[in-house]
Amino acid sequence: MKKYLVLGSMALFALSIASLGTSQEAAEQVCQQTLQNNCAKCHSLKKICAKLDQKNADWKAIVAKMGQKGKLSQEVQDAVVVCLTTTSEPKKLVCDQ
Ligand code: HEC
Repeated sequence: MKKYLVLGSMALFALSIASLGTSQEAAEQVCQQTLQNNCAKCHSLKKICAKLDQKNADWKAIVAKMGQKGKLSQEVQDAVVVCLTTTSEPKKLVCDQ
């Protein structure tokens, strides 16, 4: 009985890691799509890629400026800022486009 409990919790553990992986992937996909739909209208995502090399880039300010140019909603702007500042490897999303 104890053995099954251990096995069961191990399976649950593995499952939670797996779902964490996929939800993060899903978030990155949404993120990439948002950039693609809202930012690549005017310039290639390479512009964002280049800026990501700059450690202290003020994404809130940059995205606000872009948002004005492109009349992007506050929701989209917030999503882009979150996406570019909290994704573990944001360059993966924009640099190989
Ligand atoms: C309406 C057109 C337009 C849209 C939409 C747009 N951009 Fe831009 N973007 C520009 C133009 C024009 C420039 C170059 C002039 C400038 O820096 O203002 C630029 C420049 C940039 C730069 C370089 C700025 C710097 O300081 O070096 C970055 C980074 C950037 N855009 C990111 C984004 C992101 C992220 C989005 C999506 C949220 C976006 N842009 C949407 C027109 C746009």
